Amino acid sequence: MTTIGLIGAGDIGSAVARLAVEAGYDVVLSNSRGPETLADLVAELGDAARAATPAGAAAAGDLVVVTIPLGAIDQVPVEPLVGKVVIDTNNYYPQRDGEIAELEDESTTTSELLQARLPESKVVKAFNNIAYTSLPELARPPGAGDRSTLAIAGDDAEAKATVAKVLDDLGYDAYDAGPLSEGWRFQRDLPAYAGLYSADEPGIWPPQHHRTVSRELLIEQLGKAKRYRDM
Ligand SMILES: NC(=O)c1ccc[n+]([C@@H]2O[C@H](COP(=O)([O-])OP(=O)(O)OC[C@H]3O[C@@H](n4cnc5c(N)ncnc54)[C@H](OP(=O)(O)O)[C@@H]3O)[C@@H](O)[C@H]2O)c1
Repeated sequence: MTTIGLIGAGDIGSAVARLAVEAGYDVVLSNSRGPETLADLVAELGDAARAATPAGAAAAGDLVVVTIPLGAIDQVPVEPLVGKVVIDTNNYYPQRDGEIAELEDESTTTSELLQARLPESKVVKAFNNIAYTSLPELARPPGAGDRSTLAIAGDDAEAKATVAKVLDDLGYDAYDAGPLSEGWRFQRDLPAYAGLYSADEPGIWPPQHHRTVSRELLIEQLGKAKRYRDM
């Protein structure tokens, strides 16, 4: 696999793209306003990057990252993602995304919504629980003593192995938290959410100081997860 397509190139999408290019991948970026609006980012990333429409980025990617506001997932192109591994970075913020009844009543999860939109793709939840400022700062080569671990969730074992390899290339160990239905354990505001990777006082956003998160610490924090209705 050599090309990562990105649907969305904002804070977290561009942070993933930078790490991917550093790791030797080609990236194809897209956003809602059109490829020409990504000229600065493409220039910064160099020859390994180009911009396209969302459908173009979806078609070009051997693996595709969906990293847009959750409220826009109904616009994610379906057909060019058939058969592909799709990383979902999305979180649910009702003020931004509008209230989504199935998330309010916790009868589903954010990544299961994307999987429902993309029934013939293999969705893996990843990168949703680390801030865009922490992601570049905590990346480390394999075997580094202070390497951090990121949680992933997905229903397809092979797709999760593919995503774990991408995470490894980008500077992180992966911990498999289970199927997509378990992805709520690292959703917004829970102990394994982005504050875990921050060394700042609670409430400071985006984090300016960052904390290494070992596999053991991540597992411990995932174990403390409670449903919103039980909090
Ligand atoms: N920021 C973080 O630290 C962070 C960390 C982990 C996960 N997340 C989650 O990841 C997602 C993206 O977050 P972000 O902070 O990167 O958001 P952002 O900075 O607001 O960027 C959103 C990107 O999505 C694009 N976009 C919006 N609607 C689109 C559409 N219909 N088709 C294609 N592209 C579209 C935007 O393009 P235009 O600018 O052209 O509209 C922009 O490039 C959110 O669900 C967020 O909760 C964020």
